[in-house]
Amino acid sequence: MADTTDVLDKLGVGRIHRHVFICTGPKCCGEEQGQEAWDALKAEFSQRGLGQGESVCFRTKVGCLRLCQQGPVALVYPEGTWYGEMTADRIPRLVGEHVVDGKPVEEWTLAQNPLPAPGSGGKAF
Ligand code: FES
Repeated sequence: MADTTDVLDKLGVGRIHRHVFICTGPKCCGEEQGQEAWDALKAEFSQRGLGQGESVCFRTKVGCLRLCQQGPVALVYPEGTWYGEMTADRIPRLVGEHVVDGKPVEEWTLAQNPLPAPGSGGKAF
């Protein structure tokens, strides 16, 4: 088994710039539609080389983001931008404008919830 520290370093943990979570259904969208969006996201990341280098972007497929409507639902951190109807055809623009350029696509945004910055005293309870 590989050393965990080495795996984390190889993944780029510590250099992650943005993280996209996308739900592939089945409640918010059909599983085929969700899978197509996920495949498009993977392809776009690969084409742009976003998973490597000094500034790494992550993508994660999830089973539910609890909204369960207007899917595929996507969530991008650190901005905490919630997107609806993130179908495969929308993925290139999402990646180009938000993930790479840092500008959330307002017309597709359902909600905005950035998380407190580390050390900002963001006590939850
Ligand atoms: S199934 Fe996609 S948000 Fe719940």
